[in-house]
Amino acid sequence: MPKLDALIFENVTVGEDSRIEAWVILGEPPRGYAAGELSTVIGRQAVIRSHSVIYAGNQIGDRFQTGHGVMVRELNEIGDDVSIGTHSIIEHHVKIGQRVRIHSNVFIPEYSVIEDEAWIGPNVVFTNALYPLSRDAKKTLTGPHILAGAKIGANATLLPGVIVGKNALIGAGAVVVEHVPAGKVVVGNPARVIKDVSEIEAYQLSTLA
Ligand SMILES: CC(C)(COP(=O)(O)OP(=O)(O)OC[C@H]1O[C@@H](n2cnc3c(N)ncnc32)[C@H](O)[C@@H]1OP(=O)(O)O)[C@@H](O)C(=O)NCCC(=O)NCCS
Repeated sequence: MPKLDALIFENVTVGEDSRIEAWVILGEPPRGYAAGELSTVIGRQAVIRSHSVIYAGNQIGDRFQTGHGVMVRELNEIGDDVSIGTHSIIEHHVKIGQRVRIHSNVFIPEYSVIEDEAWIGPNVVFTNALYPLSRDAKKTLTGPHILAGAKIGANATLLPGVIVGKNALIGAGAVVVEHVPAGKVVVGNPARVIKDVSEIEAYQLSTLA
């Protein structure tokens, strides 16, 4: 297992059969914390690809995978079988369930929640401050909440605090400004419901319940 040049701080546990590639940093101390002060746990059979940085204080399940150059900030909870694609960024205090796939170049800010089996396409941007840099912006940060099995198409932008219902499908390039009901397809800017996921033939064969 090549560990060449990987920097692993104290108080980091990585489960067995994991692969940590070159130039990875694990347990980077966030501002205000000493090195090793927060424990970092990554489960077994992880694959952390080169140039990824995982801050301290993350609790991550088994079979975690990153692409190259992924950034995971501190104090997140991430379940089993989660993968995060190349150049994606997960900020702090994010909750991610089991079997979640986050594609490449995705931005997930603080206080976002992504439930089990959700799928986030490439270049998707979540937001958490409706009025950036306003007086109370930092006190009222609220990320989107993606319910189980929902799928977010490429290049979509989600406004702060929107709830995307179970198994909903967000079209490519949508700007989601309000809650999306379960099982609905939305497209456009602002995103509007156009149909039920159950009307899309291709989904009849998938795992949508
Ligand atoms: C939303 C989506 C699932 C709809 O697929 P569909 O049911 O086959 O859509 P239809 O072709 O029946 O389109 C219905 C209408 O919505 C429009 N539409 C479809 N997708 C749209 C989108 N992303 N943005 C804006 N309008 C869209 C169509 O032009 C059509 O409009 P019209 O009725 O005026 O002609 C699909 O277009 C989409 O965006 N999929 C996500 C793709 C993606 O990001 N994949 C990531 C893989 S890397």
